[in-house]
Amino acid sequence: MDLMQKKTEMLSVTDEDLERAAQLIREGGLVAFPTETVYGLGASAMDPAAVSGIFTAKGRPGDNPLIVHIADVSQVYGLSEDITVPAQRLMEAFWPGPLTVVLPRKPGVPDVVTAGLDTVAVRMPDHPVALEVIRRAGVPVAAPSANSSGRPSPTSAAHVAEDLAGKIDAVVDGGPCRVGVESTVVDLTTEPPVILRPGGVTREELEGVLGHMETAASFTYGPVEAPRSPGMKYRHYSPKAEVVLVTGGQPERVTEKINELISRYHCRGKQTGVLAAAETAGRYRADAVFNLGSRGCPEEIARNLFNGLRSLDMQGVDIIISEGYAETGIGTAVMNRLRKAAGSIIEV
Ligand code: TXA
Ligand code: MG
Repeated sequence: MDLMQKKTEMLSVTDEDLERAAQLIREGGLVAFPTETVYGLGASAMDPAAVSGIFTAKGRPGDNPLIVHIADVSQVYGLSEDITVPAQRLMEAFWPGPLTVVLPRKPGVPDVVTAGLDTVAVRMPDHPVALEVIRRAGVPVAAPSANSSGRPSPTSAAHVAEDLAGKIDAVVDGGPCRVGVESTVVDLTTEPPVILRPGGVTREELEGVLGHMETAASFTYGPVEAPRSPGMKYRHYSPKAEVVLVTGGQPERVTEKINELISRYHCRGKQTGVLAAAETAGRYRADAVFNLGSRGCPEEIARNLFNGLRSLDMQGVDIIISEGYAETGIGTAVMNRLRKAAGSIIEV
């Protein structure tokens, strides 16, 4: 038996279980809990040893900083004393919600949380279970997505257990996540602010409040030399199977290309799975097809995306082929995750 194995408690959302989750965090434990975006793996942000445990459990590189989660806006002043007017306006407009703001940090925030940066990322999630656990813990909670580093983010307690059972103290099962992709990360230490990661709050919504926003260089196209957000340089969201993304303006050509790829992989003895929109899911001759939902409802595609990647993996396919989506609204976050998951991208 692996001596490092912990017993991972499976908690529900009863009063008693939420109290237990909060107690574990207060005592330096690691607890996964649902947020509206994805499940997070939380530890007290003020306890460096506990936060180190997050990096170990996930196998996360130490230079990739964590988001600090709060349950009340007033807690932000304990983390940063330099809240500009634009920052305040975004917090007012989108908190609680899928927006993370990067602010100058107070010296009291442990280095292990920010990976030594002079900034701290903060978010107030819009999920009653997350808010209740943080409130009861009585401390800000550092929480990355609760997956093994590099794997698709978890949108259910079962996904968390797949990756982290035996490595963390508890998982609170609050059902599936509503948004399904992570928060939008905005750097407010520059003027104009920069979108470091597209996510649950859209560019259109942000610009409705602040006007023009810049976009980080690696936002759509994977690794760069000197990323503004350290997390951007690592491989992400990858299932065990190789992912191929097929994009293009004409749906007919995308479908044709994917069927051509399926035949080619079959010929080589490879099992294929397709991630498809409802409108085209019936057209593929693959070993497995996962229907992400209608193109008419991009929120549904986002909600099902990570579950789709994990489900096709569980079915044991060698190759996952995904259709592309329009890069507006939440579709920008969906395509960002697909591009980062993909080993190759084919434009038709
Ligand atoms: O929706 C979410 O944001 C989820 C839930 C659990 O809240 N959390 C999440 O955390 O996605 P994580 O660790 O998987 O992604 C955090 C991202 C990483 O790309 C990291 O590099 C970036 O935020 N980040 C954290 N602190 C930063 C900082 N001070 N400056 C720039 N980027 C930062
Ligand atoms: Mg993550």
